[in-house]
Amino acid sequence: MLLEVKGLNAGYGFLQVLWDVSLYVAQGEFVALVGPNGAGKTTTLRTIAGLIPPRQGEIFFKGELISKLAAHKISQMGISFVSESLNLFTAMSVHENLLLGAYVVRDRQKQLETLDFVYHLFPRLKERRNQLAGTLSGGERKMLAIGRGMMSNPDLLLVDEPSLGLAPNLTLDVFNALETLRQQGVTILLVEQNVNTTLHITDRAYVLEQGRIALEGKSKELLENKHVKEAFLGM
Ligand SMILES: Nc1ncnc2c1ncn2[C@@H]1O[C@H](COP(=O)(O)OP(=O)(O)OP(=O)(O)O)[C@@H](O)[C@H]1O
Ligand SMILES: [Mg+2]
Repeated sequence: MLLEVKGLNAGYGFLQVLWDVSLYVAQGEFVALVGPNGAGKTTTLRTIAGLIPPRQGEIFFKGELISKLAAHKISQMGISFVSESLNLFTAMSVHENLLLGAYVVRDRQKQLETLDFVYHLFPRLKERRNQLAGTLSGGERKMLAIGRGMMSNPDLLLVDEPSLGLAPNLTLDVFNALETLRQQGVTILLVEQNVNTTLHITDRAYVLEQGRIALEGKSKELLENKHVKEAFLGM
């Protein structure tokens, strides 16, 4: 088990968002977390990444308890969080943003290999390597955010809504990139509003509703689930 979340409660101030959330991601798995707006998907990823302290429950990564660690420690341990708010350095070039993502990697050779891999994954970033991140299109920024998340050579990639706001062809590029990453052995926990596509490309999925895990199972089986069909697939 790479990631194990047990009985997680979390929230903001007086607002409790997550109620007894338990989930796991095995090594090499591609797992989805889907659910309606405001269900707590982003909050779940933030809590795993150490950006919000859990109120109750435990999070284990590679068998170690990480739920009391600071975010930078968690990222050093191999979890990379690609958030929907992107957080790119807009006044720096694409290339510089990518190199900043590699700050935990000490081995220069390894950094360059990963950079090559990211440029191979997103040729468009390579073409625009010297362009300022702030002048990229929305889709290109998404690619840069994912690319930067890859630069630390994470064992687990948490990706929040990579297709949000993208045209269908760019969405396809992003999903293809995730598919490639997965084939390279990267373990991925993906939050997505594009439930149909997501359930087609992932192994397993959790459905989060009002802060609770409402359903879980193999993605193929969830595609046939009556509630999933009605609530998310418009059937
Ligand atoms: N920083 C914050 N302070 C207070 N409340 C917050 C904060 N961030 C999120 N919330 C609230 O927590 C709840 C869950 O939000 P969260 O962002 O986790 O949902 P989500 O499932 O990611 O939704 P979406 O699909 O819209 O991205 C929402 O009611 C939201 O308003
Ligand atoms: Mg969200």
